[in-house]
Amino acid sequence: MTMRVLGIETSCDETSVAVVEAGDGPTRIVGSLVSSQIELHQEFGGVVPELATREHLRNLPLLTYAILQETGLRWQDIDALAVTQGPGLASSLLIGHSFASALSLTLSKPLWGVNHLEGHLFSPFLANERPVQFPFTGLIVSGGHTLLMRVGDWNTYWKIGATVDDAAGEVFDKVARLMDMPYPGGPEIERTARSGNPQAYDFPRSFSERHNYQFSFSGLKTAVRYFLEKNPNVREDPDWQADICASFQQAVIDVLVRKTISAAQYLGDRLITASGGVTCNQALKRSMAEACEKAGIELLWPTPALSTDNASMIAAVVAEKAMAGKAPECLPDVDPNLVLAITQPGGEIERGMRSAKKLKDRQTRESLKSRAVL
Ligand code: KG4
Ligand code: ZN
Repeated sequence: MTMRVLGIETSCDETSVAVVEAGDGPTRIVGSLVSSQIELHQEFGGVVPELATREHLRNLPLLTYAILQETGLRWQDIDALAVTQGPGLASSLLIGHSFASALSLTLSKPLWGVNHLEGHLFSPFLANERPVQFPFTGLIVSGGHTLLMRVGDWNTYWKIGATVDDAAGEVFDKVARLMDMPYPGGPEIERTARSGNPQAYDFPRSFSERHNYQFSFSGLKTAVRYFLEKNPNVREDPDWQADICASFQQAVIDVLVRKTISAAQYLGDRLITASGGVTCNQALKRSMAEACEKAGIELLWPTPALSTDNASMIAAVVAEKAMAGKAPECLPDVDPNLVLAITQPGGEIERGMRSAKKLKDRQTRESLKSRAVL
């Protein structure tokens, strides 16, 4: 049996429509279109929700028409529709949700809703054309989120840790702005860091105690800001940004890699995945790959096209879940603050804890357990 799902993603500043096919082999992308609004928002230094909404409204019908043209598919070839129902910008989500609901009614096709973060979480499997495999430790690093998840099965997601302030992508964007670099800051910082020394400045790594799986990046951002204020003369060097970018980037990478590896080892997971816009960063990919190899853990990484927001990952979640007999419902309305389902103690958490039997530190385990259900 094969199943074709048309996905729609409009949660932030990318309008995207894609078709994926699930069946006997791994799920694959039949066609994918993404209309990025980066240039539009660049002059404001960040996403302007009203502008994003207007662009989605204009582009979504065009992209839907174009994806059918490009793939040569007709509506009768599509079995189901998938749409991002949250989290994200309320007005942007509404465009996708209303459009998908109207399509579903007109065409009499089932519509299933997907959590945007769930899309990111499983995107490394889609990118590598690998069947989804459980359990795994999944890191999500984007402009709005930094989340470390333990994924036991479909709908069995346990939050190991999250940022208490800025997200990883957000801190790249904010630090870039401190150095007069354009939005989005991640790609600019990565490019500039290539000619810099990552050991030039010792910027802080927060929450560095063992088994603390929370993240905090605002102290790092403030450290860069104070450094620039106290050392105005650094700007006299024509390459003044390179060492700061390299040292800042290294601080973010160290924290992400250390906590992800430590969580996987603690839980006894043999597979790590990473996803979200920040996984476009090749230095992060190299560091994580090295650490995984050392620890004997397999790593799955998305392609750049599947790292940033896209509808393929949304359609793939629906297709895979439907094939596994876990068809997701669609909420009647969007939820800008939608959280990933978090398992309650007694289920996945207990199993995860049992698999961490090498570690005797009961207190740490208890505190990890209580945070996971926050
Ligand atoms: O997942 P995404 O496209 O959108 C959200 O859902 O947030 O992520 C966008 C974020 C931005 O903050 C951007 O600066 C960051 O991903 N990003 C990067 C790189 N490319 C994009 N961060 C670090 N290095 C990169 N190469
Ligand atoms: Zn995203």
